[in-house]
Amino acid sequence: MNEQEKEILRHPGFDVEAIRRDFPYLEDKNPVIYLDNAATTQRPRQVLERMDAFYRHENANPLRGNHRLSLYATEAYEKAREHVATFIHAESPEQIIFTRNATESLNLVAYYFGLNVLKPGDEVLITRLEHHSNCVNWQFACQRSGATLRYIELGEDYQLDPEDFAAKLSEKTKVLAISAASNVIATLPPVKAMIEKAHALGVVTVLDGAQYAPHTATDVQDLGCDFFAFSGHKMGAPFGIGVLYGKRALLEAMPPFLYGGEMIEYVEDASSTFAELPYKFEAGTMNVGGAIGLDAAITYLEGIGLDKIEAYEKALASYLAEKLEALGGVTIYRPRQHETGTMVAFNLAGAHPHDVSTIMDASDVAIRSGHHCTQPLHRGLHISSSCRASVAFYNTVEEVDAFLKSVENVRSVLGLTADAASKEDAPWI
Ligand code: ALA
Repeated sequence: MNEQEKEILRHPGFDVEAIRRDFPYLEDKNPVIYLDNAATTQRPRQVLERMDAFYRHENANPLRGNHRLSLYATEAYEKAREHVATFIHAESPEQIIFTRNATESLNLVAYYFGLNVLKPGDEVLITRLEHHSNCVNWQFACQRSGATLRYIELGEDYQLDPEDFAAKLSEKTKVLAISAASNVIATLPPVKAMIEKAHALGVVTVLDGAQYAPHTATDVQDLGCDFFAFSGHKMGAPFGIGVLYGKRALLEAMPPFLYGGEMIEYVEDASSTFAELPYKFEAGTMNVGGAIGLDAAITYLEGIGLDKIEAYEKALASYLAEKLEALGGVTIYRPRQHETGTMVAFNLAGAHPHDVSTIMDASDVAIRSGHHCTQPLHRGLHISSSCRASVAFYNTVEEVDAFLKSVENVRSVLGLTADAASKEDAPWI
């Protein structure tokens, strides 16, 4: 940790204790120390109350009715879309498509390429650190079209290998699909520079922003990406609401993804014409309550300030990584020389990750263990699973200290001595 990070932990620029009082779960009698925020966050009461008010007083199917309740619902839904557009600096609200989650957003794009664009000889370039949602969808697109899927491998310090990227990006590449922030190893790829290089060859660029948008002020126009996907539930909004942003020309050229109500212009017996953006991609009754919850969650994050959130969360994760490493006998999968995200992946020598997280749960600490939906990454790291602690702006230094104590407790429960703990001999990991 540098001095600046230490100072941020002392003075985050917001009142962490007051923030904690906004989260009903953290006010429960015996809450766990919640360090599984990369999987999903807790929700503040401002989001829960806004959704409750919608379902109690404004509930109707939007876009379909001329009665006042339907008009209220339409207004609230479209206000949410406008807010998302300003939140990520999209050119216009019509370029914001509501989906279930980042996974569905990334599938929408991959289906388009797999069914309509890619052909044998083409290549899709992804990276070794992708979540399965930005990997398995491209496997489908390539298998379906005969295109080839290629991976940019990791190089030094858990970074994408720039030489491997330069070697694999070519005239054959049609899509570059990358995480803006890893969900495991906390790597923050240089996506803006990568997008510029891809665009110079006419390659379409797709960013998985699931672990980026909740923590960093997002500007899709500055990033330059053609598509950007993220989920609401990782930023205080409810489950089941996600976003796909796309460049207008691409979205207009794409056929619908799902077919049905509200996405049409006119339906003949044998064929149909389709609605304008964004409705072309929003078939059936949408998750209006979820969109309204996302609107409230964004208002909440903006009230604290994304810059302050980012600085505090990154400093807290660095503190956790540094103190964890100091315990010894721990392998940490995380950059040392580069800026890092909000999680710390690790293994405790001599202990299976599932045992670690289960024993930690008994001391009221919640972390995730397993492959975190990144099997190709874990293969690249020559492990099959890991533990992951991930922080949010409502976590405290005291909670991280309790987590560190629970690591020591795991050792004691499993009978691992300091020496045994430093052995690199856990073949099942
Ligand atoms: N994508 C989520 C995670 O990384 C579920 O845990």
